[in-house]
Amino acid sequence: MIPLCIPEIRGNELKYVKDCIDTNWVSSVGSYVNLFEEKFSEYVGSKSAVVTMNGTAALQLALLTLGIGGGDEVIVPSLTFISPVNTIKYVGAEPVFVDVCRDTFVMDASKIEELITSKTKAIMPVHIYGHPVDMVKVMQIAKKHNLFVIEDATESLGSTCNGKMAGTIGDIGCFSFNGNKLITTGAGGMLVTNNLEHGKRAKFLSTQAKVVTENKAFYHSEIGYNMRMPNLLAAFGVAQLENVKDYLKTKRENALYYNQLLGEIKGITLPAERENVENCYWLYSILVEDEYGITRDELIQKLNAGKIEARPFFMPIHDMPPYKGSRHGDLTVTNELYARGINLPSSVGLTKEEISKVCETIKNSVD
Ligand SMILES: Cc1ncc(COP(=O)(O)O)c(C=O)c1O
Repeated sequence: MIPLCIPEIRGNELKYVKDCIDTNWVSSVGSYVNLFEEKFSEYVGSKSAVVTMNGTAALQLALLTLGIGGGDEVIVPSLTFISPVNTIKYVGAEPVFVDVCRDTFVMDASKIEELITSKTKAIMPVHIYGHPVDMVKVMQIAKKHNLFVIEDATESLGSTCNGKMAGTIGDIGCFSFNGNKLITTGAGGMLVTNNLEHGKRAKFLSTQAKVVTENKAFYHSEIGYNMRMPNLLAAFGVAQLENVKDYLKTKRENALYYNQLLGEIKGITLPAERENVENCYWLYSILVEDEYGITRDELIQKLNAGKIEARPFFMPIHDMPPYKGSRHGDLTVTNELYARGINLPSSVGLTKEEISKVCETIKNSVD
């Protein structure tokens, strides 16, 4: 089977993890935790970074840090992995679903304003599959209506918008290091911000709101959380980060190769890369249009039969039981993309031959 997206482990991972074991620094404090935060903020260009146990925790921490809670509303897309939406509920706030763009698959910034009410506290752009949301427009709207912006950049590490890294444009950005992400720590996450106060508050809340006392007694000034990442995983992350530029280069080269081979096939729509944007192409994704001749699900079956893993786009969240009553705008494009979208194999280690096999299968699946 050609897998959808598996980790690439080819650097100093074992060496750094062994160092943690040899020195007995395996738990949630240690030099690799600090190093991972430092190196990550250096790479993305943020003033502060806080490691977490996963991307979901980073998103929840972002909402907590900004004081978003009961009675507040957060505008978020319905076409996304469920994590960002769930975290809005975890803090007692309500998601309000906005539609997406047909070409980029991400939040349609031109449809945000019509959903804003006096309860709206934040916008949560989710840069799914790698293409960044139009952050220029999102930031203009946020400024006009005095809203926070929390970027879910879990799928867009390395993507840029006007030269700025996705995740560093809003008040807070969140990343995931789950096994399928551009870099992995097995499980892990990171919160980044250019506001040092937010960074300090996030670290504090993620470490049980523990106040440092002179005699090292445990004193907690409020209810905190244990969202820390152990040194062992941070060590793995430092090694992964050393190769991130290479991984990114390969992903973009692979996407161009896919574009080249799929470009001629009638009824297959390729992923966009808008002006002033660099798409990391975390998951290379296509749309199956009516002219193609068979449906999205039929094509997935053919790919699977040819030992190629392919996945339909995220099922819209607003139709799922926990969110059926949630407020939303017109979600026509969301529903259409779900019916047409496919993620194709996108691992860093994918070979040109494998890409050719995927594209040949797509070409030969219709007469
Ligand atoms: C868009 C999106 N948001 C949030 C997450 C949550 O990250 P994690 O699995 O690390 O909790 C993921 C993926 O895993 C994701 O794809």
